[in-house]
Amino acid sequence: MTPLISGSSGPLAGRIRVPGDKSISHRALMLGALAVGESRISGLLEGEDVLRTAAAMGALGAALTREIGPDGAPVWRVAGVGVGGLAEPDDVLDLGNAGTGARLLMGLIAGNPITAILTGDASLRRRPMARAAEPLRRMGARIVAREGCRLPLAIIGAAEPMPIEYRLPVPSAQVKSAVLLAGLNAPGATIVIETLATRDHSERMLRHFGATVDVEATEEGGRIIRLTGQPELRAADLVVPGDPSSAAFPAVAALLLAGSDITIEGVGINSLRTGLFTTLIEMGGAIEFRNQRVTGGEDVADLVVRASRLRGVEVPAERAPSMIDEYPVLAVAAAFAKGRTVMRGLGELRVKESDRLAAIARGLDACGVSATIEGDDLIVEGHDGPPPGGATIETRLDHRPAMAFLVFGMAARKPVAIDDGEPIATSFPDFVALMNGLGARIS
Ligand code: S3P
Repeated sequence: MTPLISGSSGPLAGRIRVPGDKSISHRALMLGALAVGESRISGLLEGEDVLRTAAAMGALGAALTREIGPDGAPVWRVAGVGVGGLAEPDDVLDLGNAGTGARLLMGLIAGNPITAILTGDASLRRRPMARAAEPLRRMGARIVAREGCRLPLAIIGAAEPMPIEYRLPVPSAQVKSAVLLAGLNAPGATIVIETLATRDHSERMLRHFGATVDVEATEEGGRIIRLTGQPELRAADLVVPGDPSSAAFPAVAALLLAGSDITIEGVGINSLRTGLFTTLIEMGGAIEFRNQRVTGGEDVADLVVRASRLRGVEVPAERAPSMIDEYPVLAVAAAFAKGRTVMRGLGELRVKESDRLAAIARGLDACGVSATIEGDDLIVEGHDGPPPGGATIETRLDHRPAMAFLVFGMAARKPVAIDDGEPIATSFPDFVALMNGLGARIS
């Protein structure tokens, strides 16, 4: 356990880059491992979650090497095995804290005639896997798991996976991606229907590696995704953009600390990920997207964020998939805003790395902020300025509430401590140094 404490900080100033996007990093390693030839990935997030996926892909037969490129930054080379060519791992695959790693790997393995056993840390072993197992069984995989379909689980992939048409019962990019990855080795079209659009990094990257993926928007704001099976994936080079879910922490801190003015370079702004920025702008936040461009099929921009007075807003349930990992830090912003913020449709937060709905409400309450859960909605009463703080927050193996409450402590009246900063390394290894470089006081 590494306790951390944040106290009165700022103003924040400077230009930074946040680590690579976690979702895209997992997918880059997985698709690189399936492609024929050698892919080169730069900007990969070297956080614990992604390193677990790298190790798993090695155990499944891909050859991965890390080297330092001409600009001094790491480049990962991945030599793939071809669709359907995964080797049976000779040991248990331990995905650590990574839900994305675990669920996407289930999909990959389901479409290969191999047997694998997956496990993870205490947080991941509590999370529901039935949502991924159910469609994969329909495709022909056999999955044996603990009660409630929890890890560890054994998966026996299908020698001849069947393409299915699957309507997602929950808006989950992980489940969508698991089905698409299993469908890679199935003949014909694998179809996933989502009622609310979720992050589409898998679809974009599959195309980048040469697969045919057709996407049709439905009138209700959902999508029909059609993957043509058994493509020959060809090695491709990729630059992973900065993670908007990580940029969220310095961005909110800069909004809250008077006089702040920061630039976060090269952040992914895929519109299925930018719900937080939309919401913060609605709250009165000064956030600008500059120098917009496209890299590796993803939209990227430099974010300029300046201190702002925020006001409470209502965040609609339909926006939840585009900011699902950002509610802890949005709730922190709401605590400093003028008036009430109502966040609707947050049921999925209960099955993240921890029960984040409960974690946010408990943490805010400990810091002197009124936060109420009504059904799947969260209501935060803003203080129109710095709330009290002065609490110690239990992180329960969950990186995002940990970082969110450190941001809270930077701008609150009294410092805020977290009992354990180690989980932060799953997604944002240099968080403390980077924030302190901007003017934070975290020790
Ligand atoms: C992710 C999807 C989301 C998100 C997670 C990453 C992905 O999970 O919370 O951090 O990379 O596909 P769900 O699919 O469970 O909503």
